[in-house]
Amino acid sequence: MIAPDAINCNVVITPSEIRIKGVSNVPTNRAAWLSQRKSVLTVGPAPYSAPQKGQILIKNNAVSINPLDWIVQIGGDLAYRWLRYPTVLGSDVAGEVVEVGSEVTTFKVGDRVVAHCVGSDKDVNTPKEGGFQSYTAVLEDMAAQIPESMTYEEAVVLPLALSTAACALYQKDLLGLELPELTSHKRSEVLLVWGGSTSVGVNAIQLAIASGYQVVSTASPHNFDFVRSFGAKLVFDYSSPDVVEQLINALKGKTIAGAIAIGETGARSCVKVLSECKGNKFVAVATPPISFSYLAKNEKSQIQLLKFAALLISKNIALGVLATASRVKFKYIFGTTLKNNGVGRYIYRQYLPRALEEKIHIPAPPPRVVGHGLEAIQEALDIAKAGVSAEKIVVRLD
Ligand SMILES: NC(=O)c1ccc[n+]([C@@H]2O[C@H](COP(=O)([O-])OP(=O)(O)OC[C@H]3O[C@@H](n4cnc5c(N)ncnc54)[C@H](OP(=O)(O)O)[C@@H]3O)[C@@H](O)[C@H]2O)c1
Repeated sequence: MIAPDAINCNVVITPSEIRIKGVSNVPTNRAAWLSQRKSVLTVGPAPYSAPQKGQILIKNNAVSINPLDWIVQIGGDLAYRWLRYPTVLGSDVAGEVVEVGSEVTTFKVGDRVVAHCVGSDKDVNTPKEGGFQSYTAVLEDMAAQIPESMTYEEAVVLPLALSTAACALYQKDLLGLELPELTSHKRSEVLLVWGGSTSVGVNAIQLAIASGYQVVSTASPHNFDFVRSFGAKLVFDYSSPDVVEQLINALKGKTIAGAIAIGETGARSCVKVLSECKGNKFVAVATPPISFSYLAKNEKSQIQLLKFAALLISKNIALGVLATASRVKFKYIFGTTLKNNGVGRYIYRQYLPRALEEKIHIPAPPPRVVGHGLEAIQEALDIAKAGVSAEKIVVRLD
């Protein structure tokens, strides 16, 4: 038991202090476990792990679903084959800081935060850093305070999509653009964001605008106003047969800052557009030329997996051939690489808290809360897998 005096004196006792005092009531953790490839999530007890150096421990109030979550679940050996099972998936959490590890300077117990969990990353590979549980240890560099007025459900749509967009735009091995600022210096160069209504897309548009660039984008017509509301000057229908020509015409005389390709038709189309533009002929690619939605829609037998793998390889080779012939470079984005460089630190610790406070960066697309509790996460994965348009599937945990 905690000493009554401590309670009366309003002293905040953290879970690690409770452990030091030898008291047994360490918080109970539970997780939505993925016990093996292609299994459904099952909820059960999980270890409660103290944060390590440079980490904070979050009590998760909301989690959101990314395509990566269901891709790993159904993708067999094709995605994240390094994962050790049982594992805990989930990249996006929002909640309250309950413990801080050593050398953490930005956060204190009680802070309301949003964070990108990197437990599935190859060099981390641990369930304790996965999002789909009650308590997650996250890196200080991949977390940000959120405004008092913002709900956890609103904030939780951000992390992986924001990280992926930031990776593409700012990492030196990708587009290497100027970092976003609260007061941006206007530039004449144009960034092409293919797939502006996706979660990654709306974050890329907002970051690019805050870096001073102009943005031209693509989406389905019913999302044109949505995409424009984040600052894109022109939006084109990505399924229109002459969309590449339309973009080439719109970009005539402009200097291109590069492109981010989101959605399976994005990479080839962006290569074709940039081959006709002046400026940075570089495409940062988020989605391979055949999307994993193919697997979601087809029977997931071993034969289908092999067929998908063969298509993936052949379409990648074709993309490489097209890019070489067009003198356009491209590179795949890996959203969690942000954790290893100063871009992540800048975006999460310096830029985001103030950009959210000043409404320069709006968490988007809006959340669709589909359930409550860890037990609701499998259904949330199934809803996301069936396809979403300009919305993020969210589960409330508390
Ligand atoms: N490499 C990485 O590190 C990384 C990280 C995160 C995500 N991703 C990938 O990035 C993609 C987007 O992820 P997300 O979470 O942002 O997805 P999302 O929001 O769930 O994507 C849904 C949106 O995709 C759009 N879309 C579908 N096909 C498209 C196409 N051919 N061209 C342009 N837009 C298209 C739809 O737009 P409309 O409704 O307007 O038709 C829909 O709004 C996924 O393929 C995901 O796997 C990669």
